[in-house]
Formats: sequence, C-alpha cells, structure tokens
Amino acid sequence: MSLISRFAIFLLGVLLTGSSLTQAAPVDDVSKLARRTIGGVLICTGPNATGRCDHETYELKKCYNLPDGLRNNAATFAPDADDFFCYPYLKVCGGICTSPEGCTMGPVDSDYPHRYNLTAVGWNEFITSFDCLLK
Ligand SMILES: *[C@@H]1O[C@H](CO)[C@@H](O)[C@H](O)[C@H]1NC(C)=O
Ligand SMILES: *[C@@H]1O[C@H](CO)[C@@H](O)[C@H](O)[C@H]1NC(C)=O
Repeated sequence: MSLISRFAIFLLGVLLTGSSLTQAAPVDDVSKLARRTIGGVLICTGPNATGRCDHETYELKKCYNLPDGLRNNAATFAPDADDFFCYPYLKVCGGICTSPEGCTMGPVDSDYPHRYNLTAVGWNEFITSFDCLLK
C-alpha cells in the first residue's frame, strides 16, 4: 500500500471519529454515530409488557404526549438498553408544573427496576408525557 493511501485512510479515520485522537474514547464515538437509532421505548398498558404495547424510537430532547389508551394507563415503560434515559411526566408537554420535583418520577433507563411494573410505584396512573436524553 502506498504511503499516500495509508495517509488517506488515516485521515478518513480521523474524520470518522470526529476529532483529535488524543481525547474521545472510541466507545463514545460509536455511540455518537449510532445516536439516530437511540431512543426506543416500549410502553404497554399492562405490567411485564402485557396488554396494548407500543414500541417506537423517539427523538431525544423532544417531549411526547402518550396517546389515548396509554395516557395515565401504562404499567410498562421500558427504554431500550442504550445510553439514554427518559423522564416520564404527569403533565402534558408544555404543561405547567407547580411541583418542585418537576412533576416527573425521575429518570428511567433500561436498568430501572420498576420499568416493567410501574404499579409498584403508582406511576402507571400518572404518565402523561415523557422526554428522553442522552446520558
Ligand atoms: C413479571 O416478570 C417478572 C420478572 O420476570 C416475573 O418474576 C413475574 O412473575 C412476572 N409476572 C407476571 C404476572 O407475568
Ligand atoms: C406489579 O406490582 C404490583 C404492586 O406492587 C403487584 O401487586 C403486582 O403483582 C405486580 N405485577 C407483576 C406482573 O409483577
């Protein structure tokens, strides 16, 4: 292989990883490249992914209202195993929240213990909207 094509491949590598070789672990770069596929959430009326279920990939940093049927009626809220978490809210998107806790049950990710049974924390009756963020 010629020196020039070696250099071209090196340059391509720098471009693909997005920045200097000194910082940014390769794992971070992979998750950045895969970002558009992040944001899948399984939402079901029943616990353990039972009842009516809906799995979609949602844009990060964007609020979604749950559709009729799932609104205030979702015992399963299980984000895919990716580097993101979601905040379920008890208000509609853009709604006014007067609680200092922000009207959310807090971050839910693929490790959250009650994601397959929010009945255990009462939130099956509360989720009205949610948004998701990268970790
Ligand atoms: C729900 O899933 C948990 C964990 O897998 C299991 O222990 C439990 O028996 C399941 N409950 C029902 C009703 O399927
Ligand atoms: C979900 O949690 C509730 C309350 O803790 C419990 O009664 C119910 O059996 C659980 N359901 C499943 C499927 O694990």
